[in-house]
Amino acid sequence: MTGRDDFQGLARYYDSIMDHIDYDRWVVVTSLVADWLAVESVRHVDVACGTGVLLKKLRQHGWSSVGLDLSPAMAREAAKGPYAPPTFAADMCALPLRDSSSTLMTCFFDSLNFLLDYDELVQAFREVARVLDDDGIYYFDMITERMVTEYFANQTWTERSGKFKTSWGGQYDSVGRILDLNVQVHSRPPELLRERVYYPSEIHEALEEAGLVLLREVDSETWEKPTHKTVRVEMIAGKKSGTQLGRNMDKLVEHIQDVLSDLGH
Ligand SMILES: C[S@@+](CC[C@H](N)C(=O)[O-])C[C@H]1O[C@@H](n2cnc3c(N)ncnc32)[C@H](O)[C@@H]1O
Repeated sequence: MTGRDDFQGLARYYDSIMDHIDYDRWVVVTSLVADWLAVESVRHVDVACGTGVLLKKLRQHGWSSVGLDLSPAMAREAAKGPYAPPTFAADMCALPLRDSSSTLMTCFFDSLNFLLDYDELVQAFREVARVLDDDGIYYFDMITERMVTEYFANQTWTERSGKFKTSWGGQYDSVGRILDLNVQVHSRPPELLRERVYYPSEIHEALEEAGLVLLREVDSETWEKPTHKTVRVEMIAGKKSGTQLGRNMDKLVEHIQDVLSDLGH
């Protein structure tokens, strides 16, 4: 955490910059996970919700999800437009939510990689363990070092979508595992985004330290076990005190793989 709003300059352009991102895939999988939950009602919070793209899609399908994001500018964007969710500016390391108040918590698109310190990662997971209901589920993703070395490290590139132009520059410090991304929209001054790579073993350890249990870890593209080629992992975790944990997890994963394949994702 830096105390400043790293997304302030980018928030109003964020949806245009990310218009190639397949949020529908996360909508589909989140819905399948929610169907699988052994709870009476799904109380969903999307942590680090950004401009609320996922939340607006879910609310369009009748969900009553809420969102929060560290960046007030991103949270303000999330609160605009049709199907806008209730959104709060808040740090995922200090959630303004009651104990056991959520049955489904999500955190997507590298948001956890924005925590630059291992202790912050543990604290973010501790907050999930506090806010999650006993039989609730936490579904999140993180990028791997492969993603950074393959696509970002010491590279510059330009993306165009219609008249919209974004120039990117990536620098990777492989010792500290810190990725600096400079993002320039048109000819505006560049904005700096900083992310950290965590090894799988660190993520596992942080979950354990926080009182969470890892139920499944997959390659986000294949929904199979991650390999050395995996650029993004997705994980499903629950609380140690959960009684329904692991219930038919293999079946859930098979079902997700089938649905994604039928939809051509
Ligand atoms: C790449 S964006 C992803 C946003 C959104 N999840 C999406 O899928 O579009 C990363 C987000 O994480 C948020 N973020 C970074 N650190 C955070 C923290 N400590 N607490 C809450 N949100 C945080 C940023 O403000 C930003 O909106």
